[in-house]
Amino acid sequence: MSSDTRIQSVRALEILDSRGFPTLRVTVGLEDGTLASASVPSGASTGENEAVELRDGEARRYGGKGVRKALANVNEVIAPRLIGLDASAQARIDRMMCDLDGTANKAKLGANAILGVSQALARAAAQARRMPLYAYLGGVGAHRLPVPMMNVLNGGKHADSSLDFQEFMIEPHGASSFAEAMRYGSETFQALKKLLHERGLSTAVGDEGGFAPALASNEEACELIVAAIERAGYQPGRDISIALDPAASSFYDEGEYRLTRSRQGNKTSAQMIALYRSWVERYPIVSIEDGLAENDWEGFSAMTAELGDRIQIVGDDILVTNPRFIRRGISERTCNAALIKLNQIGTVTETVEAIELCRQAGWGFVVSHRSGETEDSFIADFAVAMGGGQIKTGSLCRSERMAKYNRLLEIEEALGEGAGYGRSAGIALPQSAMNP
Ligand code: PGA
Ligand code: ZN
Repeated sequence: MSSDTRIQSVRALEILDSRGFPTLRVTVGLEDGTLASASVPSGASTGENEAVELRDGEARRYGGKGVRKALANVNEVIAPRLIGLDASAQARIDRMMCDLDGTANKAKLGANAILGVSQALARAAAQARRMPLYAYLGGVGAHRLPVPMMNVLNGGKHADSSLDFQEFMIEPHGASSFAEAMRYGSETFQALKKLLHERGLSTAVGDEGGFAPALASNEEACELIVAAIERAGYQPGRDISIALDPAASSFYDEGEYRLTRSRQGNKTSAQMIALYRSWVERYPIVSIEDGLAENDWEGFSAMTAELGDRIQIVGDDILVTNPRFIRRGISERTCNAALIKLNQIGTVTETVEAIELCRQAGWGFVVSHRSGETEDSFIADFAVAMGGGQIKTGSLCRSERMAKYNRLLEIEEALGEGAGYGRSAGIALPQSAMNP
């Protein structure tokens, strides 16, 4: 062990996220003078089995959303135990924090406290070695830039739009590089803005930077996206396809899927699958995440059996980046891909373990932001390090989303000729997206 990478200080700060709610930034200092920080994101449509985000619950301070308890847990409980340890002992320190917490869901110290430390630690260790974070976490093999899922129309819990479905995304998988994918996405986003404007619809944006207009139906959202792709000069299905995250737990109630906002009535699990099947036939859809609710394991398996050979079926709320649920999902063929959110499980090490399970099963995996984000771009480096070739990090505006895209542009530039672009695992995309 090199003595200079020993931890000298660990300090948390209460900062504000992209929705203006408190969250944590943790800074780790090493004996060699390295200082590195990481900030923790926060979801709105959270899965019920996610690790616990510890909030103060003091109604008179930030409406109960303060994080001073989690902050104290970093500064007073975790920090003293970490001083003097080697910052590169990531797995050991992550394990120590889990043991110190002692609960199955990090309810005592807070997953926000633990993850802030875990990520800052990785960054500090990378910085001390003068290595970019993606190379430190991913090794010499880390060269693949991810296909972005760009959330251009927001509904559900992320906007007051008329859409029951939370996310309508575009995937520029036909681009030749990540930089080209950004151009495809941005041009389509601007074309969509013009289309909405011409139709007298709002161009105000939701939590993840997608537009949030009052549309007549969820179908109209897909039609508008196809029109925007064409207007920008691209071919739907070849250059750019559609990915959906209905986040169905948010409109599931008493055994029924209630498409209330769009006035499409109540549906059973089987009727939802039939709806998705008809959409997959009509629109260039390549991926559906949380098409069904988090406890509808049977429905998920039925949907994967029916559509899983054609499109990617992604589990988010049902799997919550938790190796325990991913194992069950693999044995029951619940999905063929997992959404990966570091704060659903709470440490870098356990997130890597979740991804390892996906790889072994031949599943795809999508590294993802949360709807409440910060300017931290950790997941950009993390996505390249893990090499799955997919990231979901919002629309083509709002700097907390662009921070990740801009970091990926930097990484691609740094990798130069060695950079690859495209999905590397799971269901293959139409045509030439499988670049080396
Ligand atoms: P959340 O939404 O961050 O609000 O949970 C993102 C998602 O459902 O994928
Ligand atoms: Zn989701």
